[in-house]
Amino acid sequence: MPRYLVLNGPNLDLLGEREPDVYGSVTLAHLEEMCRAWGAELGVQIETTQSNHEGALIDMLHDARGAFDGVVFNPAAYTHTSYALHDAIDAIRLPTVEVHISNVAEREEWRKVSVIRPACVHAIYGRGIEGYRWAIRHLFHRAEWPAETIRYADHADGIAEIRRPARPGVHAAVVLLHGGFWRHMWARDTMDGIAVDLARRGYLTANVEYRRLGTGGGWPTTVRDVADAIEAVMGRDDVGPVAVIGHSAGGHLATIARTLGDRSYLPVSLGGVLDLDAAIAEGIGGGAPVDFLGDGDVAAASPVAAVTAGEVIAVHGVDDDRVPISQARAYAAANPDCQLVELTEAGHFEFLERSDPAWLRVVELLDERFPVRSIG
Ligand code: DQA
Repeated sequence: MPRYLVLNGPNLDLLGEREPDVYGSVTLAHLEEMCRAWGAELGVQIETTQSNHEGALIDMLHDARGAFDGVVFNPAAYTHTSYALHDAIDAIRLPTVEVHISNVAEREEWRKVSVIRPACVHAIYGRGIEGYRWAIRHLFHRAEWPAETIRYADHADGIAEIRRPARPGVHAAVVLLHGGFWRHMWARDTMDGIAVDLARRGYLTANVEYRRLGTGGGWPTTVRDVADAIEAVMGRDDVGPVAVIGHSAGGHLATIARTLGDRSYLPVSLGGVLDLDAAIAEGIGGGAPVDFLGDGDVAAASPVAAVTAGEVIAVHGVDDDRVPISQARAYAAANPDCQLVELTEAGHFEFLERSDPAWLRVVELLDERFPVRSIG
């Protein structure tokens, strides 16, 4: 059974009473209990510990060698100053995910700096307590089916994680585009679980990062990034036909990228934002569609307005309370080549759980299109 250490730094012992408007009302004890439960969901044993002292944190990292398979680390304020912690993470060579409860990228300038980040395999911030859950999942999935990181563009977010299926040859491929209303605190780790599931089913997967709001993204930069990533995957000599699966805002990107790049892939939208006009009018995503569009032209940026020729699959949960099903219905009405699949008893996030019927329905739809996954 894998074992992960969840390590918390200074002042996090006061969680629950400390600035609840920033850090929430959950106590450290409760957080640690939740971490154990999140680990148990995956068959992972979680140990938790906290210290207010830099040297003690370093000792705990050293002691983790040989005892743990990975570390989830919120170094709190030491994040921004401690080269000693950076070196400790580097030295122990255990995959370490940096976690912050608050959105450190949108607070004081000094909090935007993380000196430990280069030593970590991933950073998660601004997702509240749930960030620890995503970190545990990321450690699990990266060990379960290791990925190779490729670069498709010359900026920090111009990367994709490739997972190859077990057998050699040329494979049907799935490009994965994460959601999160184009905002930077949501990243590709949310797609790890389904990336592994698809690799196991014989697909080559490319889990793509792209510039988001706050990291230089927005219309049309983000869509160009995605189009470039898709073209890079399509150009590989181990890749055959390609589907591009996007969740939520990723569904928007999967569909609209076809207006800019290579068109010969199958877009699959899962709970996708497909009608920007309506999303703006209805205040979907807390105003994110307005920020995303900037002074761009909605006729070019909204899938419902910029329909391209070729099949599209739009799968949507009837009970989706983040992106209402009217989004998918409007798109299907505008595009005669769209297969609309309405899922009763599904909301917005079920697609990311690989044992959930909503995700298994997506797999079925893919398998119908790609009955032969590999040749050669
Ligand atoms: C924190 C953010 C840090 O800047 C701060 O010093 C903390 C907590 C977070 O979890 O959001 O103590 O790491």
